Amino acid sequence: MKEQLAQIREAALAAVAAAEDSAAIEELRVRFLGKKGEVSAILKSLGSLSAEERPKMGQLANEVRADIESAITDKKAELGKAALAARLESEKIDITMPSKKTSIGGLHPLNTVLADMIDIFQSMGFDVVDGPEVETDYYNFEALNIPADHPARDMQDTFYLGENILLRTQTSAAQIRTMKDRKPPIRIVCPGRVFRADEVDATHSPVFHQMEGLVVDKGITMCDLKGVLEQFAHEIYGPETKVKFRPSFFPFTEPSVEVDVTCSECGGKGCRVCKGSGWIEILGAGMVHPNVLRACGIDPEVYSGFAFGIGLDRLTTTRYKISDIRLLFENDKRFLEQF
Ligand code: DAH
Repeated sequence: MKEQLAQIREAALAAVAAAEDSAAIEELRVRFLGKKGEVSAILKSLGSLSAEERPKMGQLANEVRADIESAITDKKAELGKAALAARLESEKIDITMPSKKTSIGGLHPLNTVLADMIDIFQSMGFDVVDGPEVETDYYNFEALNIPADHPARDMQDTFYLGENILLRTQTSAAQIRTMKDRKPPIRIVCPGRVFRADEVDATHSPVFHQMEGLVVDKGITMCDLKGVLEQFAHEIYGPETKVKFRPSFFPFTEPSVEVDVTCSECGGKGCRVCKGSGWIEILGAGMVHPNVLRACGIDPEVYSGFAFGIGLDRLTTTRYKISDIRLLFENDKRFLEQF
């Protein structure tokens, strides 16, 4: 029996040492130490020994069992470590690999120009207000002294969403909302998107941008209009820029003007950008029509005001010498990255 135990011990330890995974180890545990295992068989047969032999063999069998147990425990730990090491190796992150580039982006040139314009007007005490892009006929036309049958409507090909609902064709609608909302003195600018059913070409887009301005107070005159707009042009285009006020017509102002600045490309000599004239038109303006003040509940005998509407897209294309307005809306990163 002694020899048998020695053989079991030897065979078990060799098998455990050679085991390659935890399933094999488990098999060995059952084979040697399980209830029906080889060591248990020996222990069960101790009864057949003499009283003298029994404790010795019992002790020996228990030692063999303990040896096999500890060999199994050690092997399990060893296999566990090896498995972990293999996993760490196979799941290793290669930190030398270049990471994906994240691009932070930048301001769209229209937004750069807009931010500059807002700065200029805020420094002159204007508030910035917002207005809806979907407007009613009343705010976009009617209250601006453009009744339904007025020929001025032809100048603004309109996207109608319903009988009286439309995409605003001009930020001037914000004048009405502001005057109905606030009491004079009023000094606001309202930048935003406007929409017209225009064919797309190098200078036209069905979506473009304007900034509306409105000042209403007691004693406001054309001099205030000229002063503010001249100051604006000098700050945007430089102090050497000349500003020209041409008589014009808008239904919501009287008198009305259009404002040109000397071409920033040629300084006024005439070039491709200004089509040889030396001037670039940047905005429309005028003294708020008494009908418009009245429509908003402001007494034109007491108050007067001026208003203007600046086209942002033209300002941006001339400032950055962009030859085609479509480039502003295509969102091609290769183009936008240049600014
Ligand atoms: N709304 C005009 C347009 O889109 C621009 C304009 C002209 C705005 C004169 C004004 C103004 O406020 O007084 O053509």
